Order: sequence, then C-alpha cells, then structure tokens
Amino acid sequence: MSATLIDGTGIASEVRGEVGETVAEMRAKHGIAPGLAVALIGDDAASAVYVRMKERAAVEAGMASETIRLPADTSQDEALAVVRRLNDDARYHGILVQLPLPAHISEDAVIESINPDKDVDGLHPFNVGLLVAGKPRFIPATPAGIQELLLRSGNDPSGKHVVVCGRSNIVGKPIMNLLMQRKDGANATVTVCHTRTRDLGAMTRQADILIAAVGSPQMITADMVSDGVVVIDVGVNRVDAPERRRGYRLVGDVDFDAVSQKAAAITPVPGGVGPMTIAMLLRNTLNAARRSIHGESRPTA
Ligand SMILES: NC(=O)c1ccc[n+]([C@@H]2O[C@H](COP(=O)([O-])OP(=O)(O)OC[C@H]3O[C@@H](n4cnc5c(N)ncnc54)[C@H](OP(=O)(O)O)[C@@H]3O)[C@@H](O)[C@H]2O)c1
Repeated sequence: MSATLIDGTGIASEVRGEVGETVAEMRAKHGIAPGLAVALIGDDAASAVYVRMKERAAVEAGMASETIRLPADTSQDEALAVVRRLNDDARYHGILVQLPLPAHISEDAVIESINPDKDVDGLHPFNVGLLVAGKPRFIPATPAGIQELLLRSGNDPSGKHVVVCGRSNIVGKPIMNLLMQRKDGANATVTVCHTRTRDLGAMTRQADILIAAVGSPQMITADMVSDGVVVIDVGVNRVDAPERRRGYRLVGDVDFDAVSQKAAAITPVPGGVGPMTIAMLLRNTLNAARRSIHGESRPTA
C-alpha cells in the first residue's frame, strides 16, 4: 500500500480562507477586527520563526496583531505585567505567550495570569477543565488542527481506535480529551502511550489512527504500524543535513518513507500538522472576538 498524503498546507489554507471571510464580515457588520497579541520572551530561534508566522497569518486574515518581544532576562513580574496589560487591552481578543519561556519564568504562573476569555492557546486551567468536561471553549491549536485534518481528509475518528504517543499538556492530553468526546467529529476510543508504556509497538499496531507526538526523530517505524493505518505525525525535529544551506532538515516522529508503504493516509513533515496549528489559532482568535460581541460562543468558522 502507498499512503494518501494528508495535505496540511492545503487544508490549513481552506480554514484560513474561511476565517478571513468571517473576519471581513465582522469588520463590515460590527466594525471590529479580531485582535491577537503574541508575547515572545527570550531569543529561541524556532520560537521567533513561529511567532513571525503567526503574526503574518493573523494580518493576512484581516486581524489586528501585535507581537511584544521581550529580552531573555525579563523577570517573571515583568512578564506578568505584560499579560495584565494585554488582558485589559480591548483591541486584543486573543493572547498567546509563546512557549517555552526562559527557565526562570514559571510557565504555569504566566498561563494562569491570562484572562481565560482571551486564552486562545487553550492552556489556562479553566479552559482545560472545560475541554475535559465536554464543553470546550478554546481547544489548543495543535489538537484542534489534528481533528480538523482528520475530518477534512475523510478520516472521521468516530468508533475508531486512536493511539496517541505522547502525553504533553499541549498535544497528547488535549487530543485524547478531544477525540473521546461524545460529539460529532470525535467518539473515538483513545489509548495514550508514553515512556512508561510497556511494548509500545504492541499498542501502536492496534491503531486505526496513530498520532505521534513524542519529539523523537522517526521513532515510529514500519514494524510498529498495521496495514491501512491513518498516521498523524505531530513531531518537528531538526536532523543534521550538511548538504542543505541551513545545515539541517525537519523530520517528524514517524519514519515517513517506510510507514507510508503500509499506511492508508499520512501527514508529511513539514506540511502536515504545523500549518494547521496556525490556522486553528486564528480560528480561536476569531471565536474569542465573537464571544466579545455576542457574549456566548457561536459555531466556529
Ligand atoms: N506541528 C506543530 O504545530 C507542533 C506543535 C506542538 C508540538 N510539536 C512537536 O510535537 C512533538 C511533541 O511535542 P510535545 O510538546 O508534546 O513534547 P513533550 O512535551 O516533550 O512530550 C513528549 C511526550 O512523548 C513521550 N515520549 C517521548 N519519548 C517516548 C518514547 N520513546 N516512547 C513513548 N513515549 C515517548 C513523553 O513521555 P513521558 O511523559 O513519559 O516523558 C511525553 O509524554 C515535538 O517534536 C514538537 O516539536 C509540533
């Protein structure tokens, strides 16, 4: 079998187009442009790239966007003061603090200081609780993007066995909660694996849908999947590539060439989950702006 490619770039562009249309309607009808504020603290090169992409995408969708860049020696109090200022700034419906933060700043303290109504990353404990309770408001962008990729590529998870490798707060746990919901587009049976899982391959071979979010280059090999599996590769790993100008290339957590011989469908890296993360951040920002206009959340774009 040779897998169908799940085109994250194409699907993300569809979502961004839909968000852009709704933003234009909102501007015309209410005179309001959804606003996204991003705080970038420190000089992590990958974070700087992600933040630039988010800002550019927000502007392209017709949103107002500001990036606050702070040096690596910013104190925790200063970081909290920036979040408080953004909480009070009515131009911004969504606030995102780019992670990771410098080690001396508590991520929990910063995330918990964001107004949950503006928490478009969906990481505030209040929004995590809503997701777990089956009443999601802001779903973290990467898991939301994975669900959208599955649905728009014709791979509805309903009734399927989804095996997730990884249990982080930003990917593994929220995708588990999202796909097990009693809701259209979910209703999966979900197994979550991690470093203490005994015989990972025995688990992953049971998957109808396999989601790899471990942060370990090409760790999921062909012997770990069954024929016909649908594979979502969340991993973004740099590996040395001296022949490239930059000296590295990006690979996922899945051995793409070998696994795609057995899979029915698979996401590439890059061009799979990554573009969806940005698209869903925009959708969350749009929904935050809608809530500010209508009081309650409306159906998503
Ligand atoms: N494309 C995107 O938009 C996007 C967004 C977010 C993340 N990512 C990428 O996705 C990957 C995962 O990110 P993350 O933030 O979720 O990572 P993380 O916080 O480092 O979590 C990794 C998880 O994988 C598990 N794990 C690691 N090695 C394993 C192994 N050998 N066997 C079984 N489980 C293993 C860990 O288990 P323990 O809990 O037991 O340690 C942990 O739960 C990274 O490559 C990251 O760059 C991409």
